[in-house]
Amino acid sequence: MTFYVTTPIYYANSFPHLGHLYTMIVADAIARSKRQRGVETFFLTGTDEHGINIERAAQRNNRTPKQQADFVVDYFKKMADAFGLDTAHGGYDIFMRTTNPFHYEGVGEFWRRVAKAKTPKGNDALYKGHYEGWFCAPCAAYKTEDEYAKAANPNDPPTCLIHETKLDRVSEESYFFRLSDFDEALLHLYESRDFVRPEARRNEVKSFVASGLQDLSVSRLRTSVSWGIPVPDDPQHTMYVWFDALTNYITAIGFGNEQQNRADGFEKFWPALHLVGKDILRFHAVYWPAFLMAAGVEQPRAIVAHGMWVDPTGRKMSKTLGNTIELDVLNKYFPIDAIRYFCLREMVFGQDGRFGYEGLIDRTNSDLASGLGNLSSRTLTMIQRYCDGRIPSRAISDEARLPAKRAGVETDDATVSKLLAQARDQFIKQFDDFNFSRALEEAWAIVARVDKMISDARPWDLAKDQSQRQTLNAVLYRAAETLRWLAVLLYPVMPSTSRDTYRQIGLTDEVSSIDPQTLNWGDLSEGTGINEIKPLFPRIDKARTMEEIKSQESGVGGRESVSPAAGSTEAEGSGQHATEAEAVPGVAYIDIADFAKIDLRVGEVKTAERIPKADKLLLITVDIGEEKPRQILAGIAQYYEPENLIGRKIVVVANLKPRKLRGYESQGMLLAASVGDEGKPVIATFAEEVPNGARLK
Ligand code: MSP
Repeated sequence: MTFYVTTPIYYANSFPHLGHLYTMIVADAIARSKRQRGVETFFLTGTDEHGINIERAAQRNNRTPKQQADFVVDYFKKMADAFGLDTAHGGYDIFMRTTNPFHYEGVGEFWRRVAKAKTPKGNDALYKGHYEGWFCAPCAAYKTEDEYAKAANPNDPPTCLIHETKLDRVSEESYFFRLSDFDEALLHLYESRDFVRPEARRNEVKSFVASGLQDLSVSRLRTSVSWGIPVPDDPQHTMYVWFDALTNYITAIGFGNEQQNRADGFEKFWPALHLVGKDILRFHAVYWPAFLMAAGVEQPRAIVAHGMWVDPTGRKMSKTLGNTIELDVLNKYFPIDAIRYFCLREMVFGQDGRFGYEGLIDRTNSDLASGLGNLSSRTLTMIQRYCDGRIPSRAISDEARLPAKRAGVETDDATVSKLLAQARDQFIKQFDDFNFSRALEEAWAIVARVDKMISDARPWDLAKDQSQRQTLNAVLYRAAETLRWLAVLLYPVMPSTSRDTYRQIGLTDEVSSIDPQTLNWGDLSEGTGINEIKPLFPRIDKARTMEEIKSQESGVGGRESVSPAAGSTEAEGSGQHATEAEAVPGVAYIDIADFAKIDLRVGEVKTAERIPKADKLLLITVDIGEEKPRQILAGIAQYYEPENLIGRKIVVVANLKPRKLRGYESQGMLLAASVGDEGKPVIATFAEEVPNGARLK
């Protein structure tokens, strides 16, 4: 038996953020749970690297599109490593990149198949036509009327509802996919099985399809989008980026290419379960199945859509609102397993979830430190203390039965075994149904039950009375054996905590490959020596941690300054896509001493003039509180009239090595924001009175 799970492949034009981390965590938990049950599993994640957005980001950064993609991919890989989701940590099997040559080969084959195909209604699946429409570059999609806001002035372009950016009017020759012929076949697919999950999402997709489908433009002229896969036999056209991106799910395992087919095996792993955010459900649940039908490829196992993370007050997360969750903060202050637990526990699958640092601290402290962690440490500490560090016997003789019952202990093994097995089955059922939150509630009901047993039975009192020995042993055995079950059950959600628990109980086998369905009550052997007891989850000091996080967020020098490419990549809107690279652990931060090396001073412009034959440069002199004004050459001549600058207070980098330009020495640099695609300079200035020469720090 095999299983194949995928995350979406992420746009390689913005840096990783919580949304990406989340989908990877969910896919990782699913993959681990399958592997644990002996199912050979393939887990794909990766990056979507073609299209106009990456082309534009590359241009702005003076890179080739491939260099741009490589740059961002590096951060995604670092994120996966930092959060234990990469291959080395038992996570994904492939980091798929759409710039892989084998992908080009496979997509070419897929396109050819679609180009030859007939629709279910007997027409050609692909045809050439003319497309005119409003195109949103950040979405990489044409927008229909309900997806944009019209401008107040009818001559202005409308705005994308997701990105709030202006749309481009596009009219050009294009290949069309005859999606309109697939409505009945798609509706039949949705009816025939649980193809789209959860049900509420399936209904949305159904009504979208039932209301009629429009044909889909699946190519752009090479002259408008050159960074993409050429259409086979018609290289004037570049494939629509979603056609190329969706196909990654099959090329990665060898569709249309020998390399991957030999390595991983299309026949072996297809069909996949696609995990997606609700924002990209339509592409996966409508377009992708229709493409596959045309190409004659089996449909995915299912499309499972999750909701979005919003801030604790229910607002969308965005840089501008300052309510994002930073990956480096998560990584620094929280154990990975606490983050994984929170992600799966807090978001009711399919619905939006609220993510805030405070909530994460509260859950870590209550459910993990006080809940599971405390159960583990109190159980093992008592075994250490009262049983010489060895798992006691669970046996209760006939004469000990009554006192044990009085102490609140369930003495019948069969009953205990049945209760646990039921909880285990419920956990697995809910987990397999993507109700991770419910599954975890089941597990925590067990924690609460065992906690109660211990509190009721009061082992510390039982230990004082030799005649209560069997009851004491029975209580501690039950607690330890339940911990063993919990460690196995929770492995997919909290891999390293499970391993730690397992080891502390004194067990040596690898918890990642113990099928929870094979758990058998009583298999924990009497006499097993427990290992050193360490807290699974230390409590997090909420006030202190929140203070540190806040001070870090309003950090010295501004967060933008530590980002290797702050503002240089395209922000994509939806959710909190605009999270820059500083959110990535492992980033090259500077410390305050580095910053202090830059001598920034307030200066007043004394003179300004144009330089003959240099239409971009202005020659200015600036008083920065020194004996003589500094002479500076600034590339602002196309945007500022010299006379308007005189008397302005500006910011000067005073210790920049002097250099000669056009025969003039420039003794510093003025600071300006670089705005828009053309990098228009806007000089930094002050709203209040400041003396010349004052330092900025
Ligand atoms: N490149 C496309 C997917 C192509 S798949 C063939 C894409 N990339 S993305 O980087 O924009 O988004 C990837 C995933 O991140 C989506 O599933 C999206 O739902 C998810 N998230 C983005 N913001 C999110 C939240 N705020 N919360 C949860 N997930 C979010 O779309």
